[in-house]
Amino acid sequence: MTSLSGKTVLLVIGGGIAAYKCLELIRLLKQREARVRTIMTRAAEEFVTPLSVASLTGEKVHTALFSLTDEIEMGHIELSRAADLLVVAPATADLMAKMAHGLADDLASTALLATDKPVLIAPAMNVRMWTHAATQRNLETLRRDDIAVIGPNDGEMACGEYGPGRMAEPAEILAAIEAKLRPAARPLAGRKVLITAGPTREAIDPVRYISNHSSGKQGYAIAAAAVALGAETVLVSGPVSLPIPPGVQMIPVESAAQMLAACESELPCDIAIFAAAVADWRVAQVAGEKIKKSEGRIPALAMVENPDILATVAKRRDKRPAIVVGFAAETSDVVNQARAKLASKGCDLIVANDVSTASGVFGGDRNKVHIVSPAGVEIWPDMPKQEVARKLMDLLASRLPPRAKAAE
Ligand code: PMT
Repeated sequence: MTSLSGKTVLLVIGGGIAAYKCLELIRLLKQREARVRTIMTRAAEEFVTPLSVASLTGEKVHTALFSLTDEIEMGHIELSRAADLLVVAPATADLMAKMAHGLADDLASTALLATDKPVLIAPAMNVRMWTHAATQRNLETLRRDDIAVIGPNDGEMACGEYGPGRMAEPAEILAAIEAKLRPAARPLAGRKVLITAGPTREAIDPVRYISNHSSGKQGYAIAAAAVALGAETVLVSGPVSLPIPPGVQMIPVESAAQMLAACESELPCDIAIFAAAVADWRVAQVAGEKIKKSEGRIPALAMVENPDILATVAKRRDKRPAIVVGFAAETSDVVNQARAKLASKGCDLIVANDVSTASGVFGGDRNKVHIVSPAGVEIWPDMPKQEVARKLMDLLASRLPPRAKAAE
């Protein structure tokens, strides 16, 4: 038995000179007792023959999107779903661009779009193509889509140039495949995590409301990261237009009062993370009818304070989660404001971020946060919100006391 025994790898071979290295990769995978199915792009056939690939895999090589015999034996969707992992090697600039943009005009790109399995790519191309802004943009999109990337390495290229662009060596790709297929650590299995995300909407009348620019991206990414660590994950979300991450139970709410009620109904839980941008105030009296505009008269809206959801949960005597995390959205003096919130709200940790217009954090894909706790301040570099989420969940999982189970 090896770590790959019983696993099926669908290898998508792209059209580049590095395609010859796939033959060695197939040999290594077969040595580890993996089943290797292959798709070759039309361009790949210019570099290695389907006969060589079929001889090494012992399987039919799939090349055509509209093949009657292939569809009868195994449709292209089934082909991509029956695998444990899809590996694209070499991932050419063209294949990466198709993947980043969701194009599906041949068997390889269609299988990659149709899959619900993890994908690893091993880019290989001319150094100028690799460093081109378009390829780097596509790479960033693929990373955001959770596509794993191995290489490329620096070195002399087939075209005579030197730099990054050489496909990772077969042994390196094999190691990345083994890492990808290793069962994930699930330190939060049996634990419950509650997360708030998005904005709240506070009604003024039946057609108007007070809200803010939160897109929910940071909170949704945290929910996905909590699921990945095995947690039962409940996401209480204000109105956003994001897909619900797989495995997450989402409770939709509009106002701060509804958000508080939903959170309290989900206690007890082990970790609560308040990433929502909750409106601090609401109008005292919501008008039953649309407030009519009348020349020269501006309605005076009396405001009242909303309940503070984070502070309410953090200061509970019963059912207080073992770890309560707040966010601090500041436009200046981020760390000092966060320290003040840590004390006033009674939480264990504050994730502080700069939400001034220039930072692009509200609605953007990246965040630069400070982790503020009684132990001190950690500065995390600018990174995708998914990465912030993964790091935060890893940190919280490592700090969760062993016996603080939800049921206790
Ligand atoms: O949604 P995105 O576009 O991805 O943007 C992410 C984000 C900027 C919204 C997020 O990273 C963030 O900072 N969320 C907290 C926003 C906020 O309301 O911060 P605050 O400093 O005003 O509030 C401090 C803490 O108290 C927050 O945890 C907030 O959820 C909580 N709070 C605030 C008011 C209130 N009535 N109830 C609360 O629970």
